[in-house]
Amino acid sequence: MAWAKGVLISLAALLVQDVAAQGISAKGSDFLRFGCSQLVIERTDPIVNPGTLYTPHLHQIVGGNSFNITMDPMTIDPPKTSKCTSCRMVEDFSNYWTASIFFRSPENGTYRRVPQMTNGQLNGTLMPQEGGITVYYMRPFSGTNKKTTVFKPGFRMIAGDPSLRTKPSGPMMNCHRCLSKSERTSGGSGAPCAPTDTAEFPKKPCPGGIRVTVIFPSCWDGKNVDSPDHRSHVAYAPGSSNLASDKCPATHPVRIPQVMYEVMYDTSEFANPEYYKDGKQPLVYSFGDTVGYGAHGDYLFGWTDGALQRAMDALGTNCFSESCPVLKLQSPADAIACTKPQQAKEEVSSDVWLKEIPGSPMMR
Ligand SMILES: *[C@@H]1O[C@H](CO)[C@@H](O)[C@H](O)[C@H]1NC(C)=O
Ligand SMILES: *[C@@H]1O[C@H](CO)[C@@H](O)[C@H](O)[C@H]1NC(C)=O
Ligand SMILES: *[C@@H]1O[C@H](CO)[C@@H](O)[C@H](O)[C@H]1NC(C)=O
Repeated sequence: MAWAKGVLISLAALLVQDVAAQGISAKGSDFLRFGCSQLVIERTDPIVNPGTLYTPHLHQIVGGNSFNITMDPMTIDPPKTSKCTSCRMVEDFSNYWTASIFFRSPENGTYRRVPQMTNGQLNGTLMPQEGGITVYYMRPFSGTNKKTTVFKPGFRMIAGDPSLRTKPSGPMMNCHRCLSKSERTSGGSGAPCAPTDTAEFPKKPCPGGIRVTVIFPSCWDGKNVDSPDHRSHVAYAPGSSNLASDKCPATHPVRIPQVMYEVMYDTSEFANPEYYKDGKQPLVYSFGDTVGYGAHGDYLFGWTDGALQRAMDALGTNCFSESCPVLKLQSPADAIACTKPQQAKEEVSSDVWLKEIPGSPMMR
């Protein structure tokens, strides 16, 4: 889970400090939080490399099954072209994708994909899903105006940058949390990308897994559904907090829901302390990043007309997390049953040792 408990703890701490100065209220913590099972793991990326099979690096993809190598913003309509979604919210045919992580055997240099695992629910039981991603849509965390304007059809964006090998400045928006065995379902405590989380890969064994958090920008230029770098049409809110207030810069004046992913990697098999000696760690992202600063996520909007706006407007009254009466929830079994065959066919099983990571990325 979830940081709901962590946020409450942080809120309690803030209350003791100076809640007026922080401007945070418990009501402000309202968000949708739901699971999406794995659709497919493959080398495709309709945002960065449209039309390409076997793109440079491997992703896990979730959401509407109309996901394809080309998803032109002017013509695609995921709610119309999808027959199912792997997300619990049936009106959500968006696609969400993030990079795979590999374990490199210190003994012989071969690689195994670290399995994806499910996240915890807010009551401390595991989400009934297959791998996948936990998706959040959040209202402003502080400030008085909780209204958000949801994305237009065709909208897409990227958070983080796979080419980064140095620590980005500013609030941490992409981070890793190293979980102990007992934190497997709770996700540990503290708000997302708390000071104890790290922009780089953990430097110690994580027997309960690694939770990667990706926090997207909360401000939009109000015009463009995409931009050449897939980033500059959106912006992070000013300030030192990664969970945004209701403020936006003049260049990007429209407050959009803040999207956040939690992605769980099962490192329990790779938690031998020997692998972490002398400042080393054995993990590498599918794009050859051995440090972890390149953590990133891709988002392609695809809700049915009006559904997400309805939910965002209902937050703070009777809509919270997966329990949101203005949206329809499908059974975990139906979400799990929505999958896609690989289009870029190749071995990606987490049971198999590989000589090379798919795409043979440069290691750096
Ligand atoms: C994917 O795109 C191809 C054409 O590029 C099309 O033939 C196919 O039907 C599409 N698949 C889905 C699931 O939309
Ligand atoms: C490489 O090392 C791993 C353990 O790190 C082992 O499980 C695997 O069988 C080895 N592969 C070969 C080809 O020796
Ligand atoms: C935990 O929450 C889920 C989702 O609301 C529910 O289906 C499940 O029964 C709950 N489990 C327990 C033990 O409370």
